[in-house]
Amino acid sequence: AIDRAIRPKRLDDYIGQKAMREQLAIFIQAARGRGEALDHVLIFGPPGLGKTTLANIVANEMGVSLRQTSGPVLEKAGDVAALLTNLEPRDILFIDEIHRLSAVVEETLYPAMEDYQIDIMIGEGPAARSIKLDIPPFTLVGATTRAGLLTSPLRDRFGIVHRLEFYTHDELALIVGRSARILGMDMSPEGAFEIARRSRGTPRIANRLLRRVRDFAEVRADGKVTAEVADQALDMLKVDKHGFDELDRRLLNTLIDKFEGGPVGLDNIAAAIGEERGTIEDVLEPYLIQQGFIMRTPRGRVATRSAYLHLGLKPPKTPPTHE
Ligand code: ADE
Repeated sequence: AIDRAIRPKRLDDYIGQKAMREQLAIFIQAARGRGEALDHVLIFGPPGLGKTTLANIVANEMGVSLRQTSGPVLEKAGDVAALLTNLEPRDILFIDEIHRLSAVVEETLYPAMEDYQIDIMIGEGPAARSIKLDIPPFTLVGATTRAGLLTSPLRDRFGIVHRLEFYTHDELALIVGRSARILGMDMSPEGAFEIARRSRGTPRIANRLLRRVRDFAEVRADGKVTAEVADQALDMLKVDKHGFDELDRRLLNTLIDKFEGGPVGLDNIAAAIGEERGTIEDVLEPYLIQQGFIMRTPRGRVATRSAYLHLGLKPPKTPPTHE
């Protein structure tokens, strides 16, 4: 319930991702003006950057309902057919983790997306036949961590495709400030900036840290979040000055200590730190790469000079080649 309170509901309340926001505002206004469903929207980017939030905003701006499901939940063609046939005209069907759809479900979606029609099989054996069923015009909003995980026939059927970028510190400070206001917190601009700076460019993390810093401020200080209080709280949470958490540091340390800074393959890193390959690729790496702490090379992952320096280590004399 509290999460829902701080989640923006309109495009005007949404901070950051300016290019996307501007484009969506135009496409939504145009679709509304024509009384049509918005074209299908694909949103990709690392977890926590606001894919679900955005799907809900699109529904609010279109003045329609949103039905939410996820790739792994839709097992059979009938699962998706049931959802599609129950939509009202122009409704949004939001499919999270859309890269995890089964082949049959994906194939059911193609004619639905293109012609607002589905083919369903009735009967079995020699009597089985397929009938076409009209469904209401609708908008599929698909979300995935990486666009490259989608098959191209599916990707090609989205008319609007956006990649969410990590947020700047200034944008995150605005998000944190907004959340704090909604939560009725007392926080200085410097306090907001300290949380923003240490949130891995990610609103979900910023809002989570904000709650923990609030707890700390109430119990260990007078309730007001200053830069100093935020710093102490974040140190206690083992979130370092760069916003890296224990898992980030474990990855960097492993890369440097066990693999001499790389290059090393993803599977070896995964085994060494005991995390799944997908988690490393989708959750850990994107931010570390964006910050210039690791690099993806054809021969594997490599720790950069910044990674050594950040961990208080001496970089090797000959830095690993940047192929
Ligand atoms: N909360 C999560 N993401 C947000 C964003 N982009 N703008 C405002 N509040 C948010």
